Parts: sequence; C-alpha cells; structure tokens
Amino acid sequence: MNTLCRVVIAGTGRCLPARQVTNDELAESLQLDTSDEWIRTRTGIRSRCFAGPGETAATLGTEAARRALQSAGLRPEEIDVIICATVTPDLMCPATACLIQAALGCRPIPAFDLSAACSGFLYALAVGHQFVQTGMARQALVVGTEVLSRAMDLTDRGSCILFGDGAGAVLLSAPPSVNPQRGIHRIRLYADGSRQELIQVPSRVTPQPPPGLSVPQRLDFIRLVGREVFRFAVTRMIELIQQAERDCQELGLPPFDLLIPHQVNQRIIDAALEATHIPPSKVMVNLDKYGNTSAASIPIALDEALETGRCRPGDTLLLVAFGGGLTWSSALLTL
Ligand code: UT7
Repeated sequence: MNTLCRVVIAGTGRCLPARQVTNDELAESLQLDTSDEWIRTRTGIRSRCFAGPGETAATLGTEAARRALQSAGLRPEEIDVIICATVTPDLMCPATACLIQAALGCRPIPAFDLSAACSGFLYALAVGHQFVQTGMARQALVVGTEVLSRAMDLTDRGSCILFGDGAGAVLLSAPPSVNPQRGIHRIRLYADGSRQELIQVPSRVTPQPPPGLSVPQRLDFIRLVGREVFRFAVTRMIELIQQAERDCQELGLPPFDLLIPHQVNQRIIDAALEATHIPPSKVMVNLDKYGNTSAASIPIALDEALETGRCRPGDTLLLVAFGGGLTWSSALLTL
C-alpha cells in the first residue's frame, strides 16, 4: 500500500485588476440609492477592483498562477494538475483551468474547474491536496478567480455593493523530507443544497424561473438573500472555528496563529470573533480594499498575509469559507 505524502503550500500569488472603485464612485456611477457611510458601516468595504476590458477569470487566474509559480521557484512544465474554482468562468465550456493551462504553456495535464461558490477555493484545495497526497501529482496548481462585476445586478444595492474581481493561486507539493508539523493537516467540506435559493447565479440554460424563485428575472445575475446568508455565515463560521480548535488539540498542534476567513462582511467576522473569543490581531482582513471576491478571496488574503508579514513559514493557519450551495469549509495547515 502506498503511504500518503505530506502536502505543503510551496508558493502563492494573486492578481487584482488595476481599476479600484470606491463606494462613492460606485454609488455615483450607478446612481444607486446608497452611500459610502452605509456600505462602510454595514460591511466594512471601502473599495473593490473591477476587471477592465480584456481581463477575465482566465487572465487574472493565469497571472496569479505565474506569481505563485515564481514564488515556488517552479516552471509551468512542472505542474501536474490544474484545479480552478470559479463561478464566473470565461466560458461554460471549456473550463477556465484549460485556458489557464494554455496561457501558462503547461504539458498535457489534467485541468478542470470546480464550482462551490465562496467555498470554491477550499474545495479545490481539498482536491489538489488529494492529488498530491496520493502521488497522482507532484505539483498541483489551485486557482480561485472571479469577475463578479460582470455577474452583478447593478441596480440592486443589496448585492452589487459587496462584490469585486480578482484571483489568487497556490502551488501544492510534497517535498521529499518535510517536518511532519508542516503542511495541510485537515480540510473539512460541507454543503446543504436544501438552501440553494439563498445565493444563485443562473445561466442561459437555467430553467425559468430558477428553483426557489417564483418571479422570472434577468438571467446570469447574482441573486442574494443577504440577511439570511448573513445569519448562516456567522453560525457556520463559529462552528468551523470551534471545530478547528478541537482539531488542533486532537492533532497535537498549537492553537492556530492566524485566521483567514472568506472576505465578505466585517460584521460577520466580528460576530464570529466575539463568540469564539479570538482577538482581531489573529485575523487577516482585506475586504475593505477588495470586497467579496468569492472563490478568490482566501488565496488573495493568504498571499497578501505572507507578503505583509502577517504570517510566515512555521505558522499554523485556519482558513474558513462559506457561501452559495449553501457550502461551508475550513482548512487547517502549517506553512
Ligand atoms: O459570499 C457569499 C456570502 N455572502 C454574504 O455573506 C452576504 C451576507 N449578507 C450581508 O453581508 C448583508 O446582509 C448585506 C450587506 C448584503 C445587507 O446588510 P444588512 O444589514 O443585512 O441589510 P438588510 O438586507 O437587512 O437591509 C436593511 C436595510 C433595508 O432597508 P429597510 O427595509 O430597512 O428600509 C435595505 O433596503 O438597508 C437597506 N439597504 C441599503 N441601504 C443603503 C440594503 N442595501 C443597501 C445599500 N445602501 N447598499
């Protein structure tokens, strides 16, 4: 029987569009009945990045992947599998992962997309982890990339203020000799499809009206029942943190050094921190600059946390996500 390999994060990268849009600019340009003050106090968001002409989930994902390769000191030919999490793919077919593969110039390797909304990156991390852990791949590229600005109903102030565009990527590998305290310790994935109507992004092939909605609306826009999702997010984030604290004890790990939550609303994070008694100093937050970038939010925050010294090799991280599906997920790892 093959023994399982220990899988580490060997490199990270991110790519944000150059165009940064402040709350005031958004409200003015869309003539929305909202304000910088409302958005800041209800969400913590101050600005977000919107893709420019020619920028797509594939181009942003490719650039994030290039930077992750560079930080890992690897060449595109050394990647053995690409897994891309996105709900805003360039095309329904082929997968955005194939477009990234072509742009990077990789060998013929498996490349596919995975859809789990804001939990997408952690779902993709779990799949990449298993590829490397079982020896099916030596190096796995895991990308989260979104252009949500093209899927927003720009007349709906309850949702369009939340989202932004961007991409993040990590390279997973199994070094021959690695400290057993390092690497991915545990990933937990959950879904509850019975609450699918709370966040939806229909497409051209969605039956009209989509399940759970009685009124036909324009297709391909994000629909969000914000208040319900808020409650779900707080409850699940608390559960995930408490579960991870038990996992640390069970696995003989010290308490995690940094929590990197899905970036969507400062009030969700604050409520979860209050319930779990985690100080804000142990949490990475960058939603003020980027808003909610769905599958891209955690790898962007991870890359930024490493770059700014919020975490460093040897630190134990807890990543937690929640979103459409409904889905929720966590990953406990040591850098
Ligand atoms: O990535 C997937 C996960 N997504 C989320 O986690 C989203 C979670 N939800 C949220 O972050 C929040 O629910 C929102 C930011 C979307 C909304 O904040 P809220 O505090 O839950 O507001 P609400 O929906 O309860 O609405 C309160 C009031 C309403 O007015 P009335 O009915 O009280 O008169 C809304 O019409 O705020 C109004 N409102 C706004 N006012 C100004 C909603 N959006 C806006 C806005 N500007 N942008």
